[in-house]
Amino acid sequence: MARPSNHFQSTVGSKIVMALSGLGLVIYVIFHMLGNLQVFEGSHALNGYAAFLREMPILLWTARAGLLSIVVLHIMLAIQLTLRNRRARPVAYVVRQYRQASFSSRTMAASGLVLLLFIIFHLLHLTAGVIDSSSADRLDAEGHRDVYGKIIHAFQNPFIVALYLAGQLGLGLHLNHAVTSSLQTLGLEHAAFNRLFKAAGPTVALLVVLGNAAIILAIFLGIVRG
Ligand code: HEM
Repeated sequence: MARPSNHFQSTVGSKIVMALSGLGLVIYVIFHMLGNLQVFEGSHALNGYAAFLREMPILLWTARAGLLSIVVLHIMLAIQLTLRNRRARPVAYVVRQYRQASFSSRTMAASGLVLLLFIIFHLLHLTAGVIDSSSADRLDAEGHRDVYGKIIHAFQNPFIVALYLAGQLGLGLHLNHAVTSSLQTLGLEHAAFNRLFKAAGPTVALLVVLGNAAIILAIFLGIVRG
């Protein structure tokens, strides 16, 4: 049987790795959104950016492998920590004390699952072209892959729009709690910065969700067209 101090140390270690992997994913999501916002500049900007990313296949595949490893590690640690918490408290509270915990902190597992399902759908949809292959291989006038045309085509469909907006809800709820909680886990909690850290989660969540939703809705409402 593991000694309590070892158990404590490995739980703290898992939490630190989970916080670092989560913050790595947050950075990816922010850069991905900033890249996608180029849809507002037109097809030349977005397709040129997508082509630039693909011009370095070694870097692209290293980044993809790194991203996938971080996602797998993050999910495995989340499951491990949840099971450990349950084992430490095998009998659930009869009356749950929710006064301290926010809605997003109580629903981390659910929002994480929504996010995972969204990412799987998103990869099959826009990266692999399995869900809709009609614009998968199209090239623009400059001979670049027409990522712009692909997105315009995608977000004209109300079902796709609804699924992507549901994904943003999962993303927003998850980031709202995760960013603040990760900063605290990493020991960055400091009286002088506490308000800043508390605001970091909601701010990042709001900016990312608003940025992504702006892309989806601008296309759906015909503000950005093909
Ligand atoms: C409005 C929201 C979004 C749009 C318009 C969008 C757009 C895209 C497009 C067009 C691609 C394929 C790029 C290509 O084929 O070159 C892509 C790939 C990807 N997206 Fe998104 N995305 C959105 C939100 C998200 C979110 C919220 C996440 C993660 C939580 C995400 C994760 C990914 C990943 C992991 C890839 C694969 C990257 C790769 O091919 O290496 N996306 N996205």
